[in-house]
Amino acid sequence: MLLSMETLKADEEVEAIMRMSERSIEALGYTEHSRRHSTIVSRWSGDILRGLGKSEEIVRLGEIAGYLHDIGNCINRQDHAMSGANLAYNIVRRLGLSCSQAAEIMAAIGNHDEQFGLPVSDISSALIIADKADVHKSRVKKNIENVLRANIHDRVNLAAERSYLETDKEKGTITLFIEIDTSLCSVMDYFEIYFSRMRLSRKAAEFLGCKFSLVINGNSLV
Ligand SMILES: [Fe+2]
Ligand SMILES: [Fe+2]
Repeated sequence: MLLSMETLKADEEVEAIMRMSERSIEALGYTEHSRRHSTIVSRWSGDILRGLGKSEEIVRLGEIAGYLHDIGNCINRQDHAMSGANLAYNIVRRLGLSCSQAAEIMAAIGNHDEQFGLPVSDISSALIIADKADVHKSRVKKNIENVLRANIHDRVNLAAERSYLETDKEKGTITLFIEIDTSLCSVMDYFEIYFSRMRLSRKAAEFLGCKFSLVINGNSLV
């Protein structure tokens, strides 16, 4: 039987590690990496895989990897993909996943970060696309005055009114739609920050046999 998302989310160890990750990231002043982000990335990873007709097992493994992908932040932001992959392997084994299912999750989490990550499996590809797609103003935790002066990362997130993904199996496309308030950030600002993430998303879509498209404010860019 597949591990349910309810069981995973209610697990004491998962809960404690997620809470500590949130506290650490908040202390560093980084963009939000909390349960809101994890829940969205989990759902979007599953949606991509389901949209491409993958098995229920693969869809669920994608959802689990999505939920756990940033738990390495509990240890340190540096190399959080590697540390999170290790942590997640042991957690999901304890929760009853087989070695090969746990290995799928480990590989996906270990490859989600744009610095060293690469699409190595269907699950890792879906996770990369889902993670990089979550740009939203609710991820900015600082006050707006500081944000507008100081930090392009936060400014881009703050300008993002909405982002969502669409997977079309027939057309072979995965499209990221973003709505940006251009009074807060230009499309060029967005590209400055997200170029490497979009490049990795394109590779990930190719791994899944799809073309990656980006539509900002209704204009198709890639
Ligand atoms: Fe991450
Ligand atoms: Fe993330």
